[in-house]
Amino acid sequence: MAEISRERWISRSSFVMAAIGSAVGLGNIWRFPFVVYANGGGAFFIPYFVALFTAGIPLMMLELGLGLKFQGAPPRALFKANPKAEWIGWWAALTGFVIAAYYAVVMAWCWNYLFHSFTLGWGVEAEAFFFKNVLQLSPGPGQLSGLVLPVLIGLVLTWIAVFLILFKGLGRIGKVVMVTVPLPIILIVVLVIRGVTLPGAANGVNFYLAPDFSKLLSAKVWLAAYSQVFFSLSLAMGIMITYASYLPRKSDITNNAFMISLADAGTSFLAGFAIFSTLGYLAYVTHIDVSKVAVGGPSLAFVTIPIAISKLPFAANLFGVIFFLTLLTLGIDSLFSLVECSLGAVLDRWGITRKKATFAICLAAFLIGFLFSTGGGLYWLDIVDHWINNYGLVPVGLAEVIVIGYIFGASRFRKIINETSEIKAGKWWEIMIKVVTPAILIISLVISFYQEMQKPYEGYPAWSTFCGGWLVVIGIVIIAYLLMRSGKSMKENVNL
Ligand code: PHE
Repeated sequence: MAEISRERWISRSSFVMAAIGSAVGLGNIWRFPFVVYANGGGAFFIPYFVALFTAGIPLMMLELGLGLKFQGAPPRALFKANPKAEWIGWWAALTGFVIAAYYAVVMAWCWNYLFHSFTLGWGVEAEAFFFKNVLQLSPGPGQLSGLVLPVLIGLVLTWIAVFLILFKGLGRIGKVVMVTVPLPIILIVVLVIRGVTLPGAANGVNFYLAPDFSKLLSAKVWLAAYSQVFFSLSLAMGIMITYASYLPRKSDITNNAFMISLADAGTSFLAGFAIFSTLGYLAYVTHIDVSKVAVGGPSLAFVTIPIAISKLPFAANLFGVIFFLTLLTLGIDSLFSLVECSLGAVLDRWGITRKKATFAICLAAFLIGFLFSTGGGLYWLDIVDHWINNYGLVPVGLAEVIVIGYIFGASRFRKIINETSEIKAGKWWEIMIKVVTPAILIISLVISFYQEMQKPYEGYPAWSTFCGGWLVVIGIVIIAYLLMRSGKSMKENVNL
């Protein structure tokens, strides 16, 4: 495909919105507030901002630069940086594809809860409702116990939505993100206002923000900050590379990188008030300590918050609807950004139409999602997520900084960034990319691996973590390599 035919964003703002939409996702609501709380409260903002400026933003600049300069989704962009690095691009895109397959299942749960909100269907036994009624959880990963119909229906809705948004191309994406990015942020503001006007809210917020500076001495806290930053900015999945590849060649990099990253951090900060004021209220009405009700992840979104919603003084259903609509609109643009990355890779490589490619990818991810929609699905989702986050994203990020920092050359790449950027990247950027980011990534890789060897993750049987964990992350690398090997067309297609 000639470069002239490359699709373009309809405006700079649609690119910025789409990138913010990818970054701002479920993680901002169910991960960030809890991570802050568990890692020193207000004091955590120090490691968080250090991580943002020493690794998050530099890597964001790198990814935007890769996409912009080389005008391709990850495999092509990395191929152009160094022909031997093409497989790293496939690695990123395939990792993103696997995440899409299970992220969509979480969205399916959200759909269910959106409908249950109208009647506060979770009743008084919210925990049993989530695990027994909605997920129909089996005793362990060995028992799949068949497909769970309500989840499957949610999954169908999710994939239809993603297909309809993506198949028409960037024009439609640009329009969709004008709604799906501001809407959840406005809804979060509504939830904050509701939250802080409830009794007990101040106590909850106090738990969120009260600084414990002694925690800053713990390496664990610093690692938590770096991993939160990477995850939240949707880095190392090739998304930012793909999105930037649709920008006109003269586009700014640094400014955009700062804008996207700070918008994401700001939304996380705001979401913390919504969550913790509500937890404060829950603690107040149930006479249970905030520390006992504070959890992260699915239990927060699908158990604890629903309980709090049921106990609201008025319009509980309305706030239920608002909360789950927030999750759906937060999640959808993160999900389609992941799919767009695989899609971009496929379109760069094989000259098929966008519509066909979108259909094939959505269908494939939908079918993989069946595994996560069974009675044992939650276990598999948890295992795959853990391995992908620790042994998928981290090594991909590491590979990216090594290729650019050492093989392509950090100073050469910095010049490329500065060619089109208003704010110039200083020498500091090279130090971050060559030293700080790789060091942090290696340390976190070693620590996770060490912990893995100490005890089985969440007590799952070894065969299940082998299949859902190691086999998946290693399988991806092998497929990525084979795709590169089979890829004569890449060379023919690329205009160097
Ligand atoms: N950045 C998203 C969030 O904070 C997470 C995400 C993960 C997005 C994977 C895309 C892909 O929720």
